[in-house]
Amino acid sequence: MNKYIGIDLGTSSVKMLLVSADGSIEKSVSREYPISYPQSGWSEQNPNDWYNATIDGLYELLDGCDKENVKGISFGGQMHGLVILDENDEVIRPAILWNDGRTSRETEYLNEVIGQEALMEYTANIAFAGFTAPKILWVKENEPENFARIKKIMLPKDYLAYKLSGVFATDFSDASGMLLLDVKNRCWSEKMCEICSVNIDTLPRLFESYEKIGTLLPELASKLGLGEVTIAIGAGDNAGAAIGTGISEGGDCNISLGTSGTVFISQDKFTKNECGALHNFCHANGKYHLMGCILSAASCNKWWVEEILGTANFRNEEDGLDLLLGKNDVYFLPYLMGERTPHNDVNAKGAFIGMRPSTTRKEMTLAVLEGVAFALRDSVELARNSGVKIESTKICGGGAKSEVWRKIVANVLGIPVVRPLIEEGPSYGGAILAMVASGEYSSVSEATSKLVKTKDITYPVAEITEMYNQKYANFKILYPALKNAYNII
Ligand code: XUL
Repeated sequence: MNKYIGIDLGTSSVKMLLVSADGSIEKSVSREYPISYPQSGWSEQNPNDWYNATIDGLYELLDGCDKENVKGISFGGQMHGLVILDENDEVIRPAILWNDGRTSRETEYLNEVIGQEALMEYTANIAFAGFTAPKILWVKENEPENFARIKKIMLPKDYLAYKLSGVFATDFSDASGMLLLDVKNRCWSEKMCEICSVNIDTLPRLFESYEKIGTLLPELASKLGLGEVTIAIGAGDNAGAAIGTGISEGGDCNISLGTSGTVFISQDKFTKNECGALHNFCHANGKYHLMGCILSAASCNKWWVEEILGTANFRNEEDGLDLLLGKNDVYFLPYLMGERTPHNDVNAKGAFIGMRPSTTRKEMTLAVLEGVAFALRDSVELARNSGVKIESTKICGGGAKSEVWRKIVANVLGIPVVRPLIEEGPSYGGAILAMVASGEYSSVSEATSKLVKTKDITYPVAEITEMYNQKYANFKILYPALKNAYNII
């Protein structure tokens, strides 16, 4: 049977899946790489680390498999990161990542001097510090010698695709997060290029996520022992995850509990959501979607359990939490890296509030999980307030493996939370996109309807949801109360 490789270029590691054409996972491999925080609120990675980790992982992934059956490779990748190459295709500086908050001045310039109305007209979005365009302006302002050397601008997964295929390409879902794309018309915005001093020739060619951009370079194919392998450009990790969890009809929702947390709502047609706080982006199936993104989700739990409690036993820490759902008086604001949706505030920081001498370790752990769920509800409420009906949601990402966290999300949002059989999200979505590009399936919707199956559903309990409605109302007053303090501390 034909086999396909899905590569999820994440923030902490690259995860690779070898998937059979019937959707079953043959093997999975991951490789970690470092992230550096050169200053408070900055985050960078070296694109060569991504590439080396991917190639190293591919050897292990392919070891022992029928290599002649491998027909396609595609990607889901961390979004918004700025990768710049010079005339020799050398990486000019470390990639500036999606959760880097150094661009507050550039973001303010775009939103206030160019103006949110103009940005909405050109791109269907306003500026957020994590988006790529403010990063380009930051390099121009702070590293003019690097800026002058730019010959190619690309997103993280596009760097991998370029190194693997030699084709300089991106897809519409990921390009949407650059603030250089005219999302409605699926083309680069000349206006935005002008505003950001970007020569349009330095931007990649645009493809649909499920389109073939080329084939694996012959020298790499022969090193890996492969024949001719189709490369599809793939998607930003959230659109990729949505493909992996089968989100394609208008109103379908997926929540990703990874390093970031996202609420991804599929849209059949382009309908510009004017609130600005939600992103209006292209989907990986040729349609559109709305998205809210919180910058720290499962990363809050990882920080709390590993760094603060000093253990790796997540299960132990979660034991017994279900008895406390809806009753916790401790609150946690999950803004460890500042916040994107809805506050757009790089100065926001994490905070616990509500402790008494009787407060327990369990209550503080629960507060972390609840704080992330409340922050996700902020995005869901923005969508609901603009008339979008969300009847249920899929869930994926590392945090989705926790039963109690799924219960918290279901009860905080008041909707059933559906866990797909394969919860790998972006890497599984990548494999599906490679199948479509290789002609294994005729469309993304045919592939997802055949391949994506449900594992279990967590239903909200009316009394607990009611208690969480009150807790969420309390949560909402905390950020405004702290906003001024965040600017000082
Ligand atoms: C989405 C976003 C994050 C990253 C994480 O807008 O910034 O979800 O894509 O990899």
